[in-house]
Parts: sequence; structure tokens; C-alpha cells
Amino acid sequence: TDPRWAARADLVVVGTGVAGLTAALTAAELGLRVLVVTKGGPGDGNTRHAQGGVAVVLPAAHEPGDTVGRHARDTHVAGAGLCEQDAVERIVTYGPDAVERLRRTGARFDTGDDGALARTREGGHSAFRILRAGGDATGAEVERALLAAARDRRVAVLTGHTALDVLRTPGGAVAGLAVLDSAAVPGLISAPAVLLATGGLGQLYRATSNAEGATGDGLALALRAGASLADLEFVQFHPTVLFTGPGAHGRRPLVTEAVRGEGGVLVDTRGERVMAGVHPLADLAPRDVVAAAITRRMAETGSDHVLLDATHLGPEAFRRRFPTVHAMCAAAGVDPSREPIPVAPAAHFACGGVVATVDGRTEVPGLYAAGEVARTGLHGANRLASNSLLEGLVVGERAARAAAADLRDRAPADPDAAGWPDRTAPAAVADRAVLQRTMTRHAGIGRTAAGLAEAAGTVAAVSHRHPLDSARAVEDAALTLVADALLAAAAERRETRGCHVRTDFPDTDDTAWGRSTTVRLAESTG
Ligand code: SIN
Repeated sequence: TDPRWAARADLVVVGTGVAGLTAALTAAELGLRVLVVTKGGPGDGNTRHAQGGVAVVLPAAHEPGDTVGRHARDTHVAGAGLCEQDAVERIVTYGPDAVERLRRTGARFDTGDDGALARTREGGHSAFRILRAGGDATGAEVERALLAAARDRRVAVLTGHTALDVLRTPGGAVAGLAVLDSAAVPGLISAPAVLLATGGLGQLYRATSNAEGATGDGLALALRAGASLADLEFVQFHPTVLFTGPGAHGRRPLVTEAVRGEGGVLVDTRGERVMAGVHPLADLAPRDVVAAAITRRMAETGSDHVLLDATHLGPEAFRRRFPTVHAMCAAAGVDPSREPIPVAPAAHFACGGVVATVDGRTEVPGLYAAGEVARTGLHGANRLASNSLLEGLVVGERAARAAAADLRDRAPADPDAAGWPDRTAPAAVADRAVLQRTMTRHAGIGRTAAGLAEAAGTVAAVSHRHPLDSARAVEDAALTLVADALLAAAAERRETRGCHVRTDFPDTDDTAWGRSTTVRLAESTG
């Protein structure tokens, strides 16, 4: 098949979350013709579900004694030895400017009675440095402000358009993006620069805090375009996602860590504290530690959930401070101001992703990545709470600047030189329900060599070749490819570190494994 429609841009941004919209706005400001592509509606991704906030040490509003250096240190400690020094330092240092820019764009953060910006704490943070909006609706406010700015500045957004493949010239540079429009008609956007801002992969698992569209699309696009992925085994499970019953699957509402930041405590179904004696920071230990402790306690008590008790806040304060959590609990028949909230860990964030610099550059000339899809080195083996909106803001902007600078420096690729992918060539597609069950069973918290091998075998056995002729097929092919890559990375890392818990290798082994795993496709399969 040939492309049946065509468009042209300087930069195509895939995704409308915090990273994609920040990049698109910056690119427009720099005078680039930017085209944003999203498979859903604008703002359908994960950003709007983010509750806790943005971790940042602002000169004008920080806890006395808190510093950017302390933020960097907390990030390293949470990342369990695998964060990259340069990425951490630069991203936390650029954070304050990025947040001020976002505020100028129109985002309104909560203030206290004194009019100063309100700050809270979450797991792994040694200070109150997390800014919030609408109590626990920070992502919704960030997304609202960015979408409004994109509309005001007439940034073109193609909704209902699914990215199929990054097209490259014979020399390997990006020449455009193959896309299915909302009627599944294939088209070609010619562009010398493509920025992936597609978010994560939570839909690989049965229970996730992630939006329906978090199917690892950008990871698959990058792999097929010849880029490497790194640290893919580090899938972060959020410790406290609302537990709505054993049969429930798909997106589950988050119960923000800020509930624990404001004094909430985890208890098991017998009423005993979960985190007492486990970590010096107790209920505010880094997220991987809390999620693993909950998983162990659920196994010991034979229960499928634990309880988060925040009744000390009382009805008024709870509703005012956590309106989103309150409403979600109420919809599930729980009054969190009077009874503990049933919670369990669920897949939340991909710490790894497309290997990219803090400026969003990948190994493929003209291909950029920002936000959750990118692996800049900020998160290591476990992301620090509320560092993800921060990373999206910082790297989104820098990636647009890098694309603009690179376009000035290199002759644009001739789009006609790019091969149109043979879309009749089918890709491996596994049954989604089986894939999710398999990944949940063998690639969640607690993995073994045997389980990971069995999972890889199951994924292969339930895969069949299918043409990428619909949005669903593209998603399923991405999930299948990413599951394979993730299982390979998880099998390779024979130690326990951060979010990657190997019950057959329970210790951390810095001598052999103080480095990242990387995955790339062999040329013949690309
Ligand atoms: C939360 O509010 O607990 C989530 C924040 C995050 O994922 O960083």
C-alpha cells in the first residue's frame, strides 16, 4: 500500500501529555512548523491523572535548608545506584525555570494561607518540595494549562491519528512519520524531526494506574527505527492504587502518596502497620520499598490488598486536600475520612525507555524522545515521586530546542528518499488479555528466571502475524514487542535492585550489575 494522504512539518510531536505539549509550544515559539499527532483526544494520556505534583526546589518557595543538591541526592537514593549523575543534576537544576515557565503559561499551583506556594512530601523526599494544584489534581491542571496555550497559539493537533512507523532515509536520518488517520487510512507526514512523547506501558499489566492508551507505542516505534531502549526491567509499581475487587482490571484510580505525606499510614488486613521497622522513612520510604513490602505482607496475610488509614484528617480536611481521591473512593463506596482505603500496588511508571540525552536526542539523527517514553538517566532503577512531570517539562522544552538547533545545522532529509514501510508486512501481535495476565504473573513484583522464560514462551505462543491496519493492531503489536524486550532485560539482570525484584537473586550486586541493560532490534527484524 502507498500513503493515501500527505502532510509536511519541521517537527512532528507524537503525544499530548506534559512533554509533548511543552515541546510543541516551545517549537512553535521558535518558529518551527510543528504538527502534533495523538491517537486519542487531546489530553487523553497519563499526565492528567497525575495527582501528587511536581518535585522542584524553587528559590522563592522552598523548605528552609532544602536545596537542589538535596533533591538530586534523594533522586539518586531512590534510583538505587543507577541514576546518571549528569542527567540528575541538570534536570533538577533546570526544574525551577521550567516550572516558572509553566506558571507563565497559565498553570495555577495551590498556595497556603500566607499566599506562598504550598508544598507537600511524598515517598523518598527528605523535604516538603512538591508543588500541587487543585489539592490532588496537579496533572489535570498542568494538562489544562498546556492545552489552552496550544489552542491559543494555534498549534496543530491531529487527534485520532496513530503513529505507525518512523521513516528514515537510506542514510538513517529521520524523514517523517507514517500515520493511520482516524478512519485507519495510512498517510505520510514528511518531517526531518520526530519527537516521541508517547508515555508509558502500564497496559502491559492487568492492573495499572495508567490511561488506556499507555501501550508502549513510542518504545516500539523507537526500536523499529533502530534506537536502543535501556532499563526496561524497571517498571515502577505504585504502592497505593485503589483496590476495587479481585476481578477489577484495567485503569485503577491512584491514591496519591501525598496521603501518606500528610500522615496516612499503611496497615494490613489484621490492623498491623506495614512499614514499621522496614525502612527509616517508614510509610514515606521510596516507592519500590513500599510496594515490595506491601506485596510481601499481602502474601503473608493471604490478602489481595492492604489498607491506607488517613482517617486522622477528618472529613473536611480530607475532602479539601484530596478531592480527586475522595471522589474516586466515594464512587467505589469508600468514605476515606471515616474508614481505611483498600489499596494494592499496580503498574505505574516505566523508569526505562528510549535512550535519550537531557536534550531529548536519541541515537537516530532527527529522532527525539521526552517524558516517560525516554530514558534520560534521571530515574535509574526507581523513579523518585513527582519527578516525572518535572522531567517532562524540562526535557520537552530542551528537545524542541535541540530539534530546532539540529535543523539549522543539518540539511533536511529528502522525504522522497525515505522508504514507505510495507504495511502489508504483518507484525507479531499477542492476545492482549493473555499478555496482561502473563506479565502480571511473571514480570510484576517478584520475578524468577523460570517465570520470565515461561512468560516469553507464552507471549510467543499466543502471538500471530497481523497487518498493522488499525489502531488496535498497532497497540497490540507495540505491547507484544515491548513485552519481549522487557522480559529479555528482566532475565538479563540477575540481581534485585529498585523496582526489579528477583526472588531467585534477592541481593543487589554492584560489581556485576551497577550498569544499565540495553535492548535493540537486530537489523533483520527492524
Ligand atoms: C502520586 O501522587 O502518588 C503519584 C506521583 C508520581 O507518580 O510521582
